[in-house]
Amino acid sequence: MNDMKLPSSFLWGTATSSYQIEGAVHEEGRGESIWDRFSHTPGKIQDGSNGDIACDHYHRWRQDVALMKELGLQAYRFSIAWPRILPDGHGQQLNQAGVDFYSRLVDELLAAGITPFPTLYHWDLPQPLQDRGGWPARATAQAFVDYADAISRALGDRVHNWITHNEPWCASMLGHQIGEHAPGWHDWPAALGAAHHLLLSHGWAVPVIRRNSPGAEVGITLNLLPVTPATDRPEDIEAARRFDGYFNRWFVDPLFKGSYPPDMVVDYIAEGHLPASGPEFVQSGDMAAISVPTDFLGVNYYSRAVVSASGEPTIAAETLLGTTDVERTEMGWEVYPQGLYELLTSLHADYNPGKLYITENGASYSDGPGEDGKVHDERRLRYLRDHFTAAQRAIESGVPLAGYFVWSLLDNFEWAKGYKQRFGLVWVDYETQQRIPKDSALWYKQVIAAHKASLDTGER
Ligand code: FCB
Repeated sequence: MNDMKLPSSFLWGTATSSYQIEGAVHEEGRGESIWDRFSHTPGKIQDGSNGDIACDHYHRWRQDVALMKELGLQAYRFSIAWPRILPDGHGQQLNQAGVDFYSRLVDELLAAGITPFPTLYHWDLPQPLQDRGGWPARATAQAFVDYADAISRALGDRVHNWITHNEPWCASMLGHQIGEHAPGWHDWPAALGAAHHLLLSHGWAVPVIRRNSPGAEVGITLNLLPVTPATDRPEDIEAARRFDGYFNRWFVDPLFKGSYPPDMVVDYIAEGHLPASGPEFVQSGDMAAISVPTDFLGVNYYSRAVVSASGEPTIAAETLLGTTDVERTEMGWEVYPQGLYELLTSLHADYNPGKLYITENGASYSDGPGEDGKVHDERRLRYLRDHFTAAQRAIESGVPLAGYFVWSLLDNFEWAKGYKQRFGLVWVDYETQQRIPKDSALWYKQVIAAHKASLDTGER
């Protein structure tokens, strides 16, 4: 791993999100989010838990930044909790304590030599906006722009990389069609409307962020799955086309081609998810706004989808991924590093985003401290090593990959799965809030150190 050849500006980092780590949900003026409401609804979270305390990062952020510095991280992707900035979700009345929290975090990161990459929306919509219709309502897109304006004004002098949204497929489809995430709906038309307004809010926010943060780079993060038909039977190939359209192209095409994929519009009309006249939520100018040029595309990659016609058409990720006899993480997701290479090279060829970051990649394994007090998480280490190698191959094939954020810095609240799924490079004891860097973290530290050393010796 020490001989990886990377561009000199390449950034190695980790990622987290606000609701998954911060806790302190009632403190210093933070408003309620849809994830507070959802996680406190009985039956929604597998272990009955919630993000009330999580990793207590809201109080321990200084220690967490020190830990990142100790690991040698060059960049940190975190998310800003909208309800801390605008507790009602909209308007001009900022909650200054919330702004100050992120401002101090950014200063501390910069002092530690770590480049901040905030994400504006990692799913914690202010509940008052949900009460007015949430993402299926067009007004939510405008509210997002007001929020993006406020926070980019406050941090825009020091933050030079912004991510508007995390995984609009999850926020729209998993939240409104499959119902596994907040707000827990089962409503196809609403989900497609939510997807549109998420994308639209991105498009509207980009110029606002650029204005407030001169010279900054702005992008969006998508979760994408390379799709493989289970067999070469025509019906499986057709099912793979549809799944790729539903999961990937419905999001990448508007952003980079300025239109929804025509084959999927036909399917959704035939399936009754859209009216015969087509996507009625699209207004004049929307597609041009959504396809505004950006500086990079963030890619979250965990696995691939293997699709067959006999499977459920709208299946949650676990059951989609992989054939039967494969290595899986504890999420049930197939370990498939080759897919990262396939995904990056095909995005580069089909959409040419100019610059790409892996904004999330990682694995859930619950290995904890042994007798020696250390966490020997060899499977995570292997997972990361093999995915880094796949990324390196993509770079050698000409993909402009500019950085890599491992999900996640800390074990944390894994949404509907609760705390049982552990993705951290660092073990978190939720009773004591003790942090223990796992073997994978110590290994990652060496990878980053070798990269830095190669820069110092002018190898690149
Ligand atoms: C992604 C989410 C992230 C985390 C990982 C495992 O879909 O963006 O918050 O839950 O999956």
